[in-house]
Amino acid sequence: MGSAELDEFIERVNERTDIYSVVSRYVTLTQKSGRYWGRCPFHNEKTASFSVSPDKGLFYCFGCHAGGNAFKFLSLIENITYFEAVKLQAQRLGMDLPTRKYSPEEERRRHEEKSLFKINEFAQDFYHECLIKTARGEVGRKYLAARGITAQTVETFKLGYAPDDWDNLLSNLTRRGFSPEHIEKVGLIVRRKNSSGFFDRFRGRVMIPINDIFGHTVGFGGRILKAEDESNPKYLNTPETVLFNKRKLLFGLDKSNRAISTAGAAIVVEGYMDAISLFSAGIKNVVATLGTAFTPEHVKLILRYARKIIFCYDSDEAGQKATLRALPIVQAAGAEVFIVKVPDGKDPDEFIRKHGKENFDKLIENAETLIDYRMKYVIARADLNSIGGKKAALQEILPVVVKIQDKVIRNEYEKKIAAALLLDEQLVGEEWRKFSLNNPSADTEKKLPAVKQKIPVNDAELLIKEAFETILRMIWHDGDTLDYISVMLPREIFSQVHQEILSRLEICREEGRRLDQMSATKELSEEANAELSRILMKGANNPRDTEIGFFNDAVGILRRAVLEKKYKTLLAQADEYKVSDKETYRKKVQESLKIKREIDKLKVD
Ligand code: UTP
Ligand code: MN
Repeated sequence: MGSAELDEFIERVNERTDIYSVVSRYVTLTQKSGRYWGRCPFHNEKTASFSVSPDKGLFYCFGCHAGGNAFKFLSLIENITYFEAVKLQAQRLGMDLPTRKYSPEEERRRHEEKSLFKINEFAQDFYHECLIKTARGEVGRKYLAARGITAQTVETFKLGYAPDDWDNLLSNLTRRGFSPEHIEKVGLIVRRKNSSGFFDRFRGRVMIPINDIFGHTVGFGGRILKAEDESNPKYLNTPETVLFNKRKLLFGLDKSNRAISTAGAAIVVEGYMDAISLFSAGIKNVVATLGTAFTPEHVKLILRYARKIIFCYDSDEAGQKATLRALPIVQAAGAEVFIVKVPDGKDPDEFIRKHGKENFDKLIENAETLIDYRMKYVIARADLNSIGGKKAALQEILPVVVKIQDKVIRNEYEKKIAAALLLDEQLVGEEWRKFSLNNPSADTEKKLPAVKQKIPVNDAELLIKEAFETILRMIWHDGDTLDYISVMLPREIFSQVHQEILSRLEICREEGRRLDQMSATKELSEEANAELSRILMKGANNPRDTEIGFFNDAVGILRRAVLEKKYKTLLAQADEYKVSDKETYRKKVQESLKIKREIDKLKVD
């Protein structure tokens, strides 16, 4: 299918799609003032700030700023790509998917990928059956039972047992017609060194299938039943394969993603067993890394469902180090980070088995903020007997706390730090100020675009914010107003996102087409899309003629803001020359007066 056919297909599906029926499959909606409202499925909230406008074909959440058309909604809620969402909706509408011709190479790759997934699926069934049904699986059953793992949990995670044989899996798979080359490609068998042929990678181990977010098994972790030794690591994992990339996989996410969005938070643990244990105890918003560091890809995966990430790593030194390493990655991505320290040197699995769910819930409730955690970590390791040691500790803490903007909270922390390091409060305050002066970028936290929405602090700011929105809405409806805006207002006064929308609208006008919701979703960034949806939704109830009135006011408001800024700059410049250069001073004052007259004229209009 060419791209024109594809566009046409998307257009046809779009025409028949009613956003209300798409959304109401997932969210209970009630009607109020021409729109539908419900509780946002993308973040945790008690009041309904999620709205759907059927005539615009848009949804928008005033809480988390997710927004877009029906396909966008589907792709978010089903965690699929935009095009997959179109296909899903087409299926639901009973529309035939356009057939696509693949090149022979593509055909071969698709065929191979299918076969690789099948092999993993078969292996998972094989190990699982072996565990629950066979006499050889008895050792595995005993092992899991001793660890308090129920039959239900075995079923949920499709746990298995790999018999202690050289080629049991291999012969079963080849009998089914799978080629050894393909089986090797997914890492289930290993090529013999000195003779021809292969042998099973996993032998005599309890098998934990690792799935992608769609629930397809892409790899395994295999645990030995006895104590580990050097020649026999505790866990053997699938090596990196075309399907298995540890940096991009989180164990358990296929099962926990709904719970993560409902809770608004994901709990990240280190071990498979921790995740399995928490999940079966009813803490369902849990994922585990696969024995590797936490990566930016992991953050992205989680941020699809929730903004909060709660690290619950082992309380040993290695676990704490891993936590510290993970934090900057998560913070840079704009997630909210919390840390839980499991008491008595236990891992989460041991803790919940000993103390139960309620006590684990309490640990989560009392999770520490990143700042507190870092502070404690530094203080616990500081040498408080020397002034040098205290100062060094303070220098380590400052980069963390300097991000605090709120004066009251900041003061609290100054006190806390001073008390912990046995330093004078004033000294801490002074060092803090020095540090933030020398590191101007340190005190503004990087956030994801979606939460960058600045809340206006006063009426004037609010007016200006709304003026921008009115103008963008007007240009959306009537591209010809673009020229007028270009003359009246410098482009720089628009925010980055608004500039992106404006440029896109401009391009569309040059190409003689309209930017509509469909093309916008394809042509604009996520952030610009959500912003545009928000703006259009806000004006959904205004009739066009009032919009035109608003538009003129809006241009006036912004034009005045621009002139006032210019006026102030000129006055400040004039002031600089007042003594040194009378001539320049006079010129600047005159210029400023001209602008002042313009401003006054605007006020009269
Ligand atoms: P842990 O030893 O904390 O895992 O290692 P666990 O799940 O708590 O193990 P048990 O069964 O309760 O003793 C954390 C993770 O590191 C990886 C695994 O992903 C494990 O879940 N790991 C650990 C390995 O890949 N190989 C190893 O030999 C050990
Ligand atoms: Mn453990």
